[in-house]
Amino acid sequence: FQVPPPKNEPILSYAPGTAERSELKKQLKLFRSQEMDIHMFIGGEEVRTGNKVSIHPPHDLNHCLGYYHQGDEVQVHQAIDAALRARTDWANLSWEHRASIFLKAADLIAGPYRQKINAATMLGQSKNVFQAEIDSACELADFLRFNVYYMTQIYGDQPSSSPTTWNRVEYRPLEGFVFALTPFNFTSIAGNLPSAPAMMGNVVVWKPSKTAIYSAHVIMEIFREAGVPDGVINMVFASGPVVAEEVFSHPEFAGFHFTGSTEVFQSIWKTIGNNIHRYKSYPRIVGETGGKDFIIAHKSCDVKAVATAITRGAFEYQGQKCSAASRAYMPASRWNEIRDEVLRQLGEVKMGPPEDFRNFVNAVIDEASFDKLEAVIKEAAGHPEAEIIAGGKCDKSTGYFIEPTIILTTNPHYRTMQEELFGPILTVYVYDDQKYDETLDILDKTSMYGLTGAVFAQDRYIIEKTTKALVNAAGNFYINDKPTGAVVGQQPFGGARGSGTNDKAGSLLNLIRWVSPRTIKENF
Ligand code: SER
Repeated sequence: FQVPPPKNEPILSYAPGTAERSELKKQLKLFRSQEMDIHMFIGGEEVRTGNKVSIHPPHDLNHCLGYYHQGDEVQVHQAIDAALRARTDWANLSWEHRASIFLKAADLIAGPYRQKINAATMLGQSKNVFQAEIDSACELADFLRFNVYYMTQIYGDQPSSSPTTWNRVEYRPLEGFVFALTPFNFTSIAGNLPSAPAMMGNVVVWKPSKTAIYSAHVIMEIFREAGVPDGVINMVFASGPVVAEEVFSHPEFAGFHFTGSTEVFQSIWKTIGNNIHRYKSYPRIVGETGGKDFIIAHKSCDVKAVATAITRGAFEYQGQKCSAASRAYMPASRWNEIRDEVLRQLGEVKMGPPEDFRNFVNAVIDEASFDKLEAVIKEAAGHPEAEIIAGGKCDKSTGYFIEPTIILTTNPHYRTMQEELFGPILTVYVYDDQKYDETLDILDKTSMYGLTGAVFAQDRYIIEKTTKALVNAAGNFYINDKPTGAVVGQQPFGGARGSGTNDKAGSLLNLIRWVSPRTIKENF
């Protein structure tokens, strides 16, 4: 059981004068000069319905990147049929051959497709060059390479036997098809959710977020070039309710791999529950959902480190990472220093389209998100318990731009200390230094979600106390680091409570959900 040992894909710098920079610029220009016609991909066929929906960069609404063909129940049905037709051959293909396909896909991403997938992510999802590179190039290649490695660990795990009895476990794929519903915020997650079950021998129907179809199309192209056979991964574009109706009422529905909102996940879970009598087996349900990720600083903290964690952790990719810090608890004795440093750092941050590589902040994903965030900011501006101390300006005249915004509140239960917003808004509550324990208690009790969190302290007793007190408040807990940027193979990612099933993306724990083992005992 050996595959090339995985290493994290190195992050390229894109500094002026580098080859990667000029290649990326060329690719961005090429994408801008053409209108892409994006089709579904079902059973190895390109499927176009003629019902075209235009795609615009969130930061440049007057520009059209192309169109995608919207499907309906007919295409979803075809995708399920195509997957089921491909199932036996794919399940019977030996694991080495499945592994080879996905290792090749990783090499294509890290090599010839790197600038294409980065440019698609930058334009389609409004991500700056560094954020695109760590996501669509590095993290996606990492997911594929590390998952192949975990796959070999799973297959290699065999029970004990005796000289007269041989016990073995066959790690079969699930009996049916897996449905992957993927988010806009990480191209890597969009690629991981269909590929992880496929790698384990499953066939997949994949519906990408409608706001990330531009890069999803490139992922599909890579999977095809790497050799994913017809019908193994089928990409459909149709509205959520239409897909849900077809997928969750199908007797061969066997697994669901999801990243997205808590609300959608809960509603799908109920639908699956209501249909449970229709299925052959209990479906595997794996989901990563919302977050209300936190930073808590103790008076013993390193001020500069806290400030940098706030600037990066809350505002990178416009706060649209599931891991982004959106609430902070700051000690009164250090708050002025922390605030001054955060404001200084934010003063250097530029906002605008990602094609200008100097822009750290780009646009939020769509109008619905923009309107919701703007309303939250307006409400805070007029609220007696809130004060806006940074940013606050919103402008959708050319793209969905919202300044990195900090709301200071006197109420640790203020709406934005608890509700997920998914945008560049951080709410800060300043606590009395003497009330650290009480603050920890409030923090835990207001953690309906449990995804990521960070503590900043130099005092070792405080670090230990905080780690213990917040044991269920964050599935990824960071000590003296920002709560974003988990690296595959280093910090397996996911949380419990309202944040999901905590099956840790990019780990053996996730891959093992996509098999249905059979134990065989043979006597000699
Ligand atoms: N893995 C990402 C991060 O840690 C979130 O999905 O930021």
